[in-house]
Amino acid sequence: MNNESHIKLISEGATEVFTFIKKKTKKGPAAKGNYPFYNPSMELNRDLSVALNQWFIDNCKNSVNILDGLAASGIRGIRFANELEGNFSLYINDWSENAYNLIIKNIQNNHFNNIFPTNKNLNVLLNEKKFDYIDIDPFGSPVYFIDSAVRSINKNGIIACTATDTATLCGVYPKVCFRRYGAYSFHSNNMHEIGLRILIGFLAREAAKYDKGIEPIISYSTDHYFRVYIKIIKGVQYANESLKKILSINSKDYFYNVKNSQEIGPLWMGETGNKSIIKKLITYIFNKNLNTKNKLLKLIDLLEKESDAAPFFYTTDSIASYLKKSSPNMNYLFQKINEKGYYAIKTHFSNIGFKTNAPIDEIENIFI
Ligand SMILES: C[S@@+](CC[C@H](N)C(=O)[O-])C[C@H]1O[C@@H](n2cnc3c(N)ncnc32)[C@H](O)[C@@H]1O
Repeated sequence: MNNESHIKLISEGATEVFTFIKKKTKKGPAAKGNYPFYNPSMELNRDLSVALNQWFIDNCKNSVNILDGLAASGIRGIRFANELEGNFSLYINDWSENAYNLIIKNIQNNHFNNIFPTNKNLNVLLNEKKFDYIDIDPFGSPVYFIDSAVRSINKNGIIACTATDTATLCGVYPKVCFRRYGAYSFHSNNMHEIGLRILIGFLAREAAKYDKGIEPIISYSTDHYFRVYIKIIKGVQYANESLKKILSINSKDYFYNVKNSQEIGPLWMGETGNKSIIKKLITYIFNKNLNTKNKLLKLIDLLEKESDAAPFFYTTDSIASYLKKSSPNMNYLFQKINEKGYYAIKTHFSNIGFKTNAPIDEIENIFI
C-alpha cells in the first residue's frame, strides 16, 4: 500500500479522490518519480470528458464499456464512476504499482462495485479487451498508444486523447514532430491549429491502416495541451473518405504575409468537431456539477462555431502590423465583414484571431 503521508483527499466535480501530493522539494521517496501526482490544471479536461461520456451513454449505446487507460490516481475514472448515470462498465488502468494501489483505495473509499482496476501496460490491455470509449491521457505524446487503441475500439466508439508535447506539435522541434507524427508543423501564429490538425491527421492515418475512418467530435488546444475526441467508424469507404481530408500544404498558400515556402503536414483539413453534438454537450455541461463550468461553456461556444469553419485564421495584429495601421475593434471588424456579405467568427486558438471567408483585400480595407 502507498505511504499514506504522500496522499491527500481532494474534491473535483462531485467526487472526492485520494491523490498523490506533488512534492515541493526534491528530497524523499516521492521525488524518484514513482508517484504520479494530481494535476489540478487538467480539471477542465476531465470535466469535459465527464459531460461527453454522459452524452455518449445517453445517445449512442445500450451499455458503454469505458477505459481510463493512463489513470494515475484514477481521478478521471473515479469521477466517471461517481458522476455518470446510466448503463456503463469501467476499467481504470495504470502500469505503476503505486498508482494501481491508489486506484484501489479510491474505489474502496467510494464503495464502488463493477469497476475493474488493472495494473497493465496500456498497449497490453488494449490488445486483450475491446472498449467503446478509450481515454489516453499521457505525460507527453499519445502516439505510442494509438495503434492499439484503434484496434481495440468497438464500432462507432470514441478515442479521447491528450497530447502535452505542444512545443513539438507547434513546430519548435521539427525532427521530433516528423519522427512522432510523420508530419511537419509550422511555428507561426497558427501553430496551435496546425498542431491540432497534425494530431487528428495522425489518428486518421493510424485508423486507415485497419480500414477505419474517423470523425472528430470535439477537439481543442490550450497553452499546455491538445485534446481530441474522435469517433472511429469501421469500413474501407470511411477510411478512404478520411484520408481524402489529409493534405500537405504550402505555408505561402495559406498564411497571411508569409514569404518563405515551407511544406506543412500531412494534416487533417476536415472539420475539427461535430456541430450538432457540441451543441448538445452544452446541456450536459450545464446539468453536471463542474467547477470549470463557466470556462468550459465559453470554450464550447467558440468550438461549436468554429467546428465547421474553414481551416486557419487571421490575427488582427499581423494584419495591422503589416499594413502599419492600428487594429480595429473585433466587433467593428466583424460588422464590416458581415456587411460585405461574409462570415467572421472568433477562434479559441487566439483571442486576437478570427476566421472568415472574406478575401484578404476586403479585410485589409477595413483596417483604418
Ligand atoms: C499524465 S498521467 C495520467 C493523469 C491522469 N489521467 C489524471 O487525470 O490525473 C500518465 C500516467 O500514465 C501512466 N503510464 C505511462 N505509460 C504507461 C503505459 N504504457 N501503460 C500504463 N500506464 C502508463 C503513468 O504511470 C502515469 O500515471
